[in-house]
Amino acid sequence: MESEVGSLKLNIVAFCCHYCAYAAADLAGSLRLQYPPSVRVVKLPCTGKLDVLLVLDAFEHGADGVMVAGCMEGDCHYQLGNLNAKRRVRYVSKLLKEIGLEPERVRMYNMSSAMAKQWAEAVTEMDETVRRLGPSPLRKADCAGHT
Ligand code: FES
Repeated sequence: MESEVGSLKLNIVAFCCHYCAYAAADLAGSLRLQYPPSVRVVKLPCTGKLDVLLVLDAFEHGADGVMVAGCMEGDCHYQLGNLNAKRRVRYVSKLLKEIGLEPERVRMYNMSSAMAKQWAEAVTEMDETVRRLGPSPLRKADCAGHT
């Protein structure tokens, strides 16, 4: 889903662990909690499955921001998956800075499946951050090439 910034629409991709954030998002939906519609959820079996290239690919294909949401530290079902994800997110953040994008466009969150409110807050926070930064320059370049 996309939300509008002026005439432009925001795209935020959320890579969510099946055990926690995905379930929290589902619960937020059941509880009818309000959060921005800019987020598109991609379910992962664990955030440890997240690859740096997957995140870069999301940006290359029009994401204005990427959030990665995994289990609470110490609660990953695959032990170190969320810690590895955290390390990769930090790395992508550095890469973004090196290519001239704002490092805040990617962020890691940790939550449990019961944390629907925190899910809604995380999406809201990410939406506000990306809204402040504006659309990704990569996306604008892509749009300019197709008009
Ligand atoms: Fe949830 Fe690893 S199982 S982050």
